Order: sequence, then structure tokens, then C-alpha cells
Amino acid sequence: MVLRQALLSASGSRRLRAFAANSPFARGVVDRFVAGEEVDTVIAVVASLAQEGLFASVDHLGEDTTHPRQAAQITEAYIGLLRRLSEEGLSSAAEVSVKPSAVGLGLGADGEELATANVARICAAAREAGTTVTLDMEGPESVSATLRMVRVLRADFPWLGCVLQSYLRRTDDDAVAMATPGARIRLCKGAYALDPAVAHTSHREVDAAFVRALRTLMQSSAFPMVATHDPRLIEIAGTLAALNRRSADDFEYQMLYGARPEEQRRLAGMGARVRVYVPYGRDWYGYLLRRLAERPANLVFAARAIAGR
Ligand code: FDA
Repeated sequence: MVLRQALLSASGSRRLRAFAANSPFARGVVDRFVAGEEVDTVIAVVASLAQEGLFASVDHLGEDTTHPRQAAQITEAYIGLLRRLSEEGLSSAAEVSVKPSAVGLGLGADGEELATANVARICAAAREAGTTVTLDMEGPESVSATLRMVRVLRADFPWLGCVLQSYLRRTDDDAVAMATPGARIRLCKGAYALDPAVAHTSHREVDAAFVRALRTLMQSSAFPMVATHDPRLIEIAGTLAALNRRSADDFEYQMLYGARPEEQRRLAGMGARVRVYVPYGRDWYGYLLRRLAERPANLVFAARAIAGR
């Protein structure tokens, strides 16, 4: 818990971010969890996943944007990425995931309006490409605004996906409220908060809350996206789907690029829909620290990768 807290705090530090950019230790983990820095590399990764029957959700790395110009650049990067996915014939295999803070949500009183306008532009490009968008969920302070953005934008883009985090105490209610017909909802445990006022802090409580929300989603007419690597929860998802007479196309499993790749292929081989969350780009620091915080074994992996160089 102490290590997790330290890593999550470090994920917001600009000084450490600059230091990590040149660290071989960080590179060891980056190479495993990030599909390169350029669009060409991520396109090749998506194509190879598609050949194996795996879908992708591509994240152009970036968060905590500090200026509207930066938010506009990230928006343009997504629009360019969607155009490339379409040109390469990959629109049916890949969608994009967008962090609200990357497109301006944190930029003061006008942040929500700016982020909503930027996501609307990304959604319009996704519609033209023939694919979808999911809005990632960040820290607890931005949850209400993010869900508001999703509700507003779904009027024009009903397929816009959102994320619910089972560690948040509010998620029981959010799952009921958001599970409208056809709504694409990604359920994960959550990678940010540790404040017991808003979040469950024990694994047992977070897992129990995950199962409760999963049950709500599976019983609803929403489209559940089960985002976990946890073998127990993956099994429960399969059981709940069967109990609610969902076919393999009526829900999907989602996992992170570099995490349990053999399990991703095993599920797809059994006929399940599996989507891999594929981040790419230069701004990998915050993403990397959250991966280390949720699974300290990744630190050992990084150390080994470096020792082998
Ligand atoms: P957890 O980390 O609790 O691990 C449970 C068990 O799973 C482990 O004991 C082990 O058995 C197994 N396991 C986990 N990782 C493994 C690995 N790499 N290799 C082997 N076994 C492993 N968070 C957020 O706050 N907002 C968001 O928008 C998203 N988006 C998102 C999308 C997708 C597609 C995924 C998969 C995850 C997210 N997350 C997220 C991150 C999520 O909240 C969570 O932090 C991580 O998925 C880790 O939690 P797990 O459910 O995988 O289990």
C-alpha cells in the first residue's frame, strides 16, 4: 500500500517525469506496456492484433494538459490517428480511448466545455472512420464532469463509451444510472484514488464492488466491457454473461497491452470478444507509474529487462 501510494504520488510529479524520460529502468517497462511513440508503430501493432482476432482501443498518451493549445494538438493527433486507422482498413478492429484531462478537462472553469468540444470533434472523426470512442476515467475529482460529458455527447454519438471504477463508493449508483440500452460501459477496478472517503481501499471490497457493478451491467441492456486481468473476475464475467443469456458478441473482455497476452489469446481462441487497450506516444510517464503501482511485479520485470541488456 505504501509503495502504491508513493508511485501514484510520483505519477503527478513533473520533475520525476523529466528524470524518467532518460532512465533505462523506465524504458524496460515502457517497451512492454507502450506500443511505440509514433502512429506507424501503433498501426502495425493494431494490425498484428487484428490478425490474431483481437480488437484494440488506442490511447494517444497524454494527460494533465496545461494549455488549450496542447488540448487542440492532442485532439488533432486523435483525428489523424482515426484517419490512418480508416486508410489502413482497421476501423472495424480498433477504436480510440481518450483521457478527458488530455483534451482540456482540467483547464479551469471553461475546461469542461473545451474538453466536450474536443471530444465531439474526435467523435465526429470516429463516425467518419466507422468506429467508436471511449472516454477514460481519471481521478475522483473529474468523475462527475466526465459522466456529464458522456451524457451530453451521447445525444449525437450514442456509441460513446464510458468507464466506471469499482473502487469508487459511488459506482453502485453510477452503474444503474449509466446502464441505458446499448450504452458501452467499461468496468475496471480503478487506478487513481486511495482516499477512503470516496474509495474502497481493500482488495476484497474493490473486488466485491466490481462483481456488484458487473451484475448490474450484465442484467441491463447496456454493452459491458469487462476490463480486468483478474482470473477470478474474468471467470465470474463469463458466468454472469451466460446466466443473462448474453452471446459472445453481447459483451467483451478488455486488457492492457503487455498484460497477460496469453490470456487475451486464450479467450479470443474460445470465441470471446477481446479488446486490447494499446497506448502509444511520447507522454508515457503517468501511464507507466500507474502500471507499476497496480502491480509491483512489473518493477521486477523492468529490473530483469535492464539486467539482460
Ligand atoms: P489487479 O491488478 O487487482 O490484479 C488481480 C489479479 O490479476 C492478480 O493477482 C493477478 O493474478 C492477475 N493479474 C493482474 N495483472 C496481471 C499481469 N500483468 N500479469 C499476470 N497476471 C495479472 N483505470 C482507471 O482508473 N481508468 C480507466 O479508464 C482505466 N481503463 C482501463 C482500460 C482497460 C482495458 C484495462 C484493462 C484497465 C483500465 N484501467 C483503468 C486500469 C484498472 O483500473 C486497473 O488498475 C488495472 O486493470 C489492474 O487491475 P486488474 O483488474 O487487472 O486486477
